[in-house]
Amino acid sequence: MMKPAGHTLIASLTPVHSVILKNHGRLFSHLIYGKLTKSRKLHCYHRKCQFHKDSVMVATRYPPPWFSVAPMMDYTDNHFRTLARLISKHAWLYTEMIAAETIVYQTGNLDRFLAFGPEQHPIVLQIGGSDLENIAKATELANAYGYDEINFNCGCPSPKVAGKGCFGVRLMLDPKFVANAMSVISANTNVPVSVKCRIGVDDHDSYNELCDFVYKVSSQSPTKHFIIHSRKALLNGISPKENRSIPPLKYEYYYALVRDFPDLRFTINGGINTIDEVIAARNEGAHGVMIGRAAYNNPWNLLGHVDSAMYGSPPSTITRRQVLENYQVYGDSVLGLYGPKPNVRDVIKPLLGFFHSEPGNGLWKRKVDAAFLNCKTIKSLFEETLVAIPDSVLDSPITAAPISFSDIFADAKNILPPPYTVQEKELLYA
Ligand SMILES: Cc1cc2nc3c(=O)[nH]c(=O)nc-3n(C[C@H](O)[C@H](O)[C@H](O)COP(=O)(O)O)c2cc1C
Repeated sequence: MMKPAGHTLIASLTPVHSVILKNHGRLFSHLIYGKLTKSRKLHCYHRKCQFHKDSVMVATRYPPPWFSVAPMMDYTDNHFRTLARLISKHAWLYTEMIAAETIVYQTGNLDRFLAFGPEQHPIVLQIGGSDLENIAKATELANAYGYDEINFNCGCPSPKVAGKGCFGVRLMLDPKFVANAMSVISANTNVPVSVKCRIGVDDHDSYNELCDFVYKVSSQSPTKHFIIHSRKALLNGISPKENRSIPPLKYEYYYALVRDFPDLRFTINGGINTIDEVIAARNEGAHGVMIGRAAYNNPWNLLGHVDSAMYGSPPSTITRRQVLENYQVYGDSVLGLYGPKPNVRDVIKPLLGFFHSEPGNGLWKRKVDAAFLNCKTIKSLFEETLVAIPDSVLDSPITAAPISFSDIFADAKNILPPPYTVQEKELLYA
């Protein structure tokens, strides 16, 4: 199981610094939010907010990434990750993809893109890029922030990404480049590295081609962990959104990878919507399960079960009201940190699925819409809108997940493709 080997927190956090001794013996003085002026409010938040204090005050040994929240551009930002961490202590949280160029050309502004609160561990930075020099420099700059893993994006089909040079999912057609990129990333960080990819691109969608990609990348770089979004990408004619639903899911490819590469670790992703399906995927032998949209759209009911179902923690007793109290302190501490941003809308956005299917949800959202016009703080917005939600919803801990037995993964295992055999000739010319 992948672990961010040997992070040891050797000094408790002052309001400004955490000092992390990494396993290579180098001492990093890590300014959690960079410049004091910009970060005072965030530190105030962390001083006030005691949740998960233990996770940063004691030696840090992260749980394995059995469950992770997918990288989602414009969604898995600091605000959503803060909310997610208030609900689950153990889920691994992926950042939005950040282009290597963004990091390299914004060196005066890095905190805005790379800083995160210490409670967000375990957290993975996803970077994208097609220029080895920029990828190397971006990784080096990001290394100082103390991410627990660096992930490389080989799955994004957006024309803005895949159409520009060779970036995102197009990189699956160039495993040699991906291996080089992963070597460069690994050389510039001291945490594990991973690749997130699809199962194919356009007509390059056979199981053997997927295996060739995995084989070449893993044998020519230190990559041992692949996150498999289990559908291919179509590069011509459909939108990124359609690319997340039209190409069919083929979990049989994922389970065949688990069978054929026993020395590697694979996380399954794509179309997994409930905690029962997460458990079913693990029971069928998945090394880890990653969820994107369902975690964002219904964070309470999805993430609320992760710690007990996946990590053996006792059932959570936290209530939505407690989560909101902590989130409000965070939210008000970050408003306007970067000029006009983030604003009240930005901070409230991750909460829009928080009352999914609950009584009062629709009315609450209408009140929130109206409150955007006059509320300047999260506190005042909550005061004005939460009256729409019954106390019974606000004050109940997460209830047991409804049981729905899913056999999608068992079915996939009945139709596994034939085992992969490395094609020596192809490797000779790789
Ligand atoms: C709005 C949105 C933005 C996304 N941005 C990224 C991204 O930045 N990097 C990435 O690797 N995948 C991205 N994805 C894909 C997700 O990480 C995930 O692979 C996909 O949504 C399938 O998982 P799901 O069915 O659980 O949502 C994005 C997905 C959505 C919905």
